[in-house]
Amino acid sequence: MMEHSFIFVSIITTQLLLFADILAQPLPPNIGINYGRLGNNLPAPRDVINLYNRCGVGSIRIYDPNPEVLEALRDSNLRVSVGTRNEDLPSLASSQAAADAWVNTNVAPYRNNVKFNWITTGNEVIPGPYATNVAPAMINIQNALRSIGLTGTKVTTVTSFGVIANSFPPSAGTFTSETTEVMTNVASVLKQTGAPIMLNVYPYFAYASNPAKISLKYVHFNEITPVVDGQFQYFNLFDSMVDAYNVALEKIGAGSVPIVVSETGWPTAGDSPFTSIDNAQVYNINLANHVKRNGTPRKPNQIMDTFIFALFNENKKPEGIEQNWGLYYPNMSRIYGYLDC
Ligand SMILES: *[C@@H]1O[C@H](CO)[C@@H](O)[C@H](O)[C@H]1NC(C)=O
Repeated sequence: MMEHSFIFVSIITTQLLLFADILAQPLPPNIGINYGRLGNNLPAPRDVINLYNRCGVGSIRIYDPNPEVLEALRDSNLRVSVGTRNEDLPSLASSQAAADAWVNTNVAPYRNNVKFNWITTGNEVIPGPYATNVAPAMINIQNALRSIGLTGTKVTTVTSFGVIANSFPPSAGTFTSETTEVMTNVASVLKQTGAPIMLNVYPYFAYASNPAKISLKYVHFNEITPVVDGQFQYFNLFDSMVDAYNVALEKIGAGSVPIVVSETGWPTAGDSPFTSIDNAQVYNINLANHVKRNGTPRKPNQIMDTFIFALFNENKKPEGIEQNWGLYYPNMSRIYGYLDC
């Protein structure tokens, strides 16, 4: 009996994986991929951008305005999110001239061939010493863009899920007391400009730190029994976390600000059994299939731009799971079937 059920389970697992392989296909247009560059063995930017193009990826997020990368992005058709370096925030916040210079150096020379969709002032700097720089830096960069006539670019910032104090149930979502004032200032700028807020959201970490309470099915978008929160039904942890953030925004009067998911993903190694190629593949494929046509229960019609973290394994990050978030090895061969290239 035991042996039979074991065989039965492995047949099902095998079929799920084959199914996942068949699903490897062009990404939906609202899925982007983060191009992290903390490796000493990564391909040249031109080869990397060619990989994005060949794979039909819709958008790319880069963490700083590296000129070689921006040069390679010319005529790529990718929608680009480019970040200011965190350490530049104090000057961008305090000086319009510094913000003008940043835009003149990093945006203006490429504007005719690169689609600057988003500029992010700061990556996960709230809370922290740069937090109060974010809102004024956004305003100064926005002014600088306007003065060169670029009006379609959204200026925002990237926040970690660490700004959230309560995330369960989602209706209890709030910002931490430490971040509420800064988030209120940031959100009020975003409301005026119509730009989204960016959020890094990792159901993986919630699951790996509490596998007894959170089922893999729920994290993998495979649950059929919902977690009920008032009138809302949650079939996956990703939606639950994003909606906790939506509720926190509502509580600071910013419920209309849309969310872009700037990072999500699953590592392939470093914390077995939670990390594995199979687990990463199932998460990312099911994520893409989910967000391509669904908003969250609280904002069902709001299809979010969502960036997978990350394109490559990066060997200059801390050892362990941090080095293993890639869809590709540095030699550009893919780690698992996800894209059809
Ligand atoms: C690429 O790198 C991976 C990991 O080191 C290795 O397993 C694979 O064989 C390499 N592929 C090629 C084509 O060199």
